[in-house]
Amino acid sequence: SLSAFPQPDPAFHPLVASHETGLKDVKLPQNFAWGVASSAYQIEGAAKEDGKGPSIWDMLSHQVPGFVADNSTGDVLAEHYYLFKQDIARLKALGFKAFSPSISWPRIFPFGNGPVNAPGVAHYDAVITALVDVGISPAVTLFHWDTPLALFHEYGGWSNEKIVDDFVHYAKFIITRYDKYVPIWFTINEPQYCNWQYAGYPAEILNPKTGKKGEKGGIKARFACGHYTLLAHARVAKWYHEEFKGQGRITFKNSGNYYEPASTAAADLRSAQRNYDFSIGWFSGPWTDGDYPESLKSTLDDVLPKYTEEEKRIIKGSCDFYAIDAYTSYTAFGSSNDEACMKDPKNGAFPECAGSRQAGNDGFPMGPAGDTGVDWMKTTPGGIRRYLRKLKEMWPSIPDIVVTEFGFAEPFENLMKTKGEILWDLRRADYYQGFLDNILASIHYDKVNVTGAWGWAIFDNFEWNAGLSTRFGLQYVNYTDLTRTPKASMFQFLNWFQ
Ligand code: NOJ
Repeated sequence: SLSAFPQPDPAFHPLVASHETGLKDVKLPQNFAWGVASSAYQIEGAAKEDGKGPSIWDMLSHQVPGFVADNSTGDVLAEHYYLFKQDIARLKALGFKAFSPSISWPRIFPFGNGPVNAPGVAHYDAVITALVDVGISPAVTLFHWDTPLALFHEYGGWSNEKIVDDFVHYAKFIITRYDKYVPIWFTINEPQYCNWQYAGYPAEILNPKTGKKGEKGGIKARFACGHYTLLAHARVAKWYHEEFKGQGRITFKNSGNYYEPASTAAADLRSAQRNYDFSIGWFSGPWTDGDYPESLKSTLDDVLPKYTEEEKRIIKGSCDFYAIDAYTSYTAFGSSNDEACMKDPKNGAFPECAGSRQAGNDGFPMGPAGDTGVDWMKTTPGGIRRYLRKLKEMWPSIPDIVVTEFGFAEPFENLMKTKGEILWDLRRADYYQGFLDNILASIHYDKVNVTGAWGWAIFDNFEWNAGLSTRFGLQYVNYTDLTRTPKASMFQFLNWFQ
């Protein structure tokens, strides 16, 4: 029974522990959307099956040595492509009512545009059917970083405006087919990662069109990509509501860290603000206020493409709710480098010209190496409450907020000797409890309208550049025999909603 799992120590999440603050009897809003999330390239495997075309991640993981830390690729993973029926059956057995997968664009259109691949479509027909049959509601992401390689070679993928039409074409195809069954659509996953994930040739790769190596995307490709992702999203959202008259809600998934100014000194406050502007503000500006934040425009001038008045109108208000993938907290500080950087921001990789470092641990227990998992993530459950409050303060016009991803990577899982040790993941379990407690506190005390929370991830998967060595799963995947086993954190997560 669930009570066999040890209850977390309240001292682990000092910002809010529900049983200490009276939140125990506080109920979540009705229809709070929650479940587990995933993405096609990270879990499916079967990279060359049934007519799928390659994506940029097939190219990057195969052709760029060291691009993925352990040299793993998406060829063979948890093999969800073949095992989806049992994965869905297990979600059902565990008690989930919702699941957030993504659809692989190059399975549907192997060349990004052009002919549709019938076996790929049949596959997702079967996935959606399997979910609907057992009463699990899909929240579907249309694009989670697996840009069709053909479009990348043809015109540079997301750094070229041509991709807007191709994405809209693909999105319309999928939405038209499945909208009846899908109440939540995410057009784009984390456009803030518009660098090598989406655009630009890494140094080692030959561009077959130009014959040149190493046309690294750089800052121009990054901001062009951001520009077109948002435009592509907005065009789909407009079509969805005005022409197609879709039944559900549509948005895109933001990603960004919480930045706490190191002090009230002007330089620290400025640094926090610039960090926000160049992460979530980059996209939240256009869809709430109709344009990029002033600091982006003045810093980047001609590097930042401009929206036409018509495009601004389409983009503004194009999200039915605010989706945020929230993992990490930073401390922001002004540094002497900022001034030098500001003199020529376009030459730097970080045009925000603002210092920051990982925030402290809020009393959350750190691992032996003093972290929670991966180097970018010294995150703590307390950060989410501050972050949600900050989002509401910065963009008061945003409607409800859904935390579309949160989760915890336990690096020591790879050092653990026994399956028992791995499955007994009490730090992750405690993290989930603390995180959800803080969301509830945010709703109850801070009056932030949070309407959902999704755990990342359904099970261990391909963590992009970290490959298989970083495990975010609520279920353990044995990559030899492909068994999945729920970790203690999975039960903690489920238990929280009881
Ligand atoms: C956000 C991304 O959407 C997902 O693909 C990734 O695995 C998690 N963060 C964890 O890094």
